[in-house]
Amino acid sequence: MTMQPTTYQLPSNEDVAGLGTTPIPAGPYYRDDYFELEREAIFRRTWIQIGHVCELPEPGSFIVRPIEVANASILITRGKDEKVRAFHNVCTHRGTHLVAEESGNRASFTCRYHSWTFGYDGALRSAPDFERFYVDKSDCGLRPVAVDVCAGLIFVNLDKSPAQGLGEFLGPIAEQLETLSISRATTFAEYVYEIDANWKLTFDNFQEHYHLRFIHPRTGAGARGPDNPFAYPVKFDFYGPHRTESVWSNPAADRLPIQQFALGRLAQIAAADVSRNSSHAKDVFFLFPSLFIQGTPVLPFVHSVMPISATRSRGVVRLYWIGEDDNATESFAREYSMAMARDVHAEDRVVIEAGQRGLNSGALEFIHFQSQEVLCRHLFHAVDTMVQAHRAGRGAAGVVA
Ligand code: FES
Ligand SMILES: [Fe+2]
Repeated sequence: MTMQPTTYQLPSNEDVAGLGTTPIPAGPYYRDDYFELEREAIFRRTWIQIGHVCELPEPGSFIVRPIEVANASILITRGKDEKVRAFHNVCTHRGTHLVAEESGNRASFTCRYHSWTFGYDGALRSAPDFERFYVDKSDCGLRPVAVDVCAGLIFVNLDKSPAQGLGEFLGPIAEQLETLSISRATTFAEYVYEIDANWKLTFDNFQEHYHLRFIHPRTGAGARGPDNPFAYPVKFDFYGPHRTESVWSNPAADRLPIQQFALGRLAQIAAADVSRNSSHAKDVFFLFPSLFIQGTPVLPFVHSVMPISATRSRGVVRLYWIGEDDNATESFAREYSMAMARDVHAEDRVVIEAGQRGLNSGALEFIHFQSQEVLCRHLFHAVDTMVQAHRAGRGAAGVVA
């Protein structure tokens, strides 16, 4: 059902009605008890994107990432054998967080407390006065975490034996992601924000275009046109718990001269490198649970939202690119894109937090999604299906939910 801008027509209500039309309960967007279920049913057992291979450029490179929702800190290493491995960043002597830095390059990792030293493969290499312990060194390796890579993006799964591999989890989307230039990215610009809002409420803001004309009257001008005043997407697709949309943009948009210049320069860079072309360049991927990927040929955009509590989340926004800028205009175009992203997000943030404050009051039993907010509905269904299955399993095991 992909349509050209000149014959623009929205996916109809009927097209997406298969996902239901009923109101959505408000509780899952603020209640602590629902969040506790999400923690166990989802975040302790699903694949979570945590970085990019360009952060591990050579043997000995490492990164450390917190996953607060699971009280976890994850150490990811690239070994001399080039292999990417992940471990709990927890010393096996008495549990101290092993590595304090966020990234670096090391031949080994030494715990500051009693100097146990581990290799990039997690093995305990040395420990002072170890003869006095009652355990074998071979039983003292760092606790491994399942890790895999798709399109250069590093994913981990905190389940000791994940029910699905990453490829099975992503399904046909994995192949689509591999066509994006992000798989060859060598560096990125990043900003990280914390927000007083539920992770789904935050992520939903980026899954619907309904708000664009009201919240982004200036920054979103290029996305709207007379025949599509809400800048709705031209296509939605669903892949298990994941979803995609194909974005529409107004070729006759009334952009500021500076926007025109930056976008024009980026288009030139893309055109000069045909290898960056991808049939999915206009698609936006919403990977379960909360990873947004826009695979534009230049500066692919990735935004992940991770919960900290039921009503607080952290977003990580990155623009990736390949190689060095050739000249100052390229650098400017890139910087401008990042500044635009920040401006747009600042506008979003205010309304997301206002929404959370309203929901926290308990005034609403239900919220409502229209047909063009179907991606938000789909996320809720995917989450709630897993939460209810987990709750049922606990009930069957004799545990009160
Ligand atoms: S806790 Fe790490 S060496 Fe003792
Ligand atoms: Fe927005």
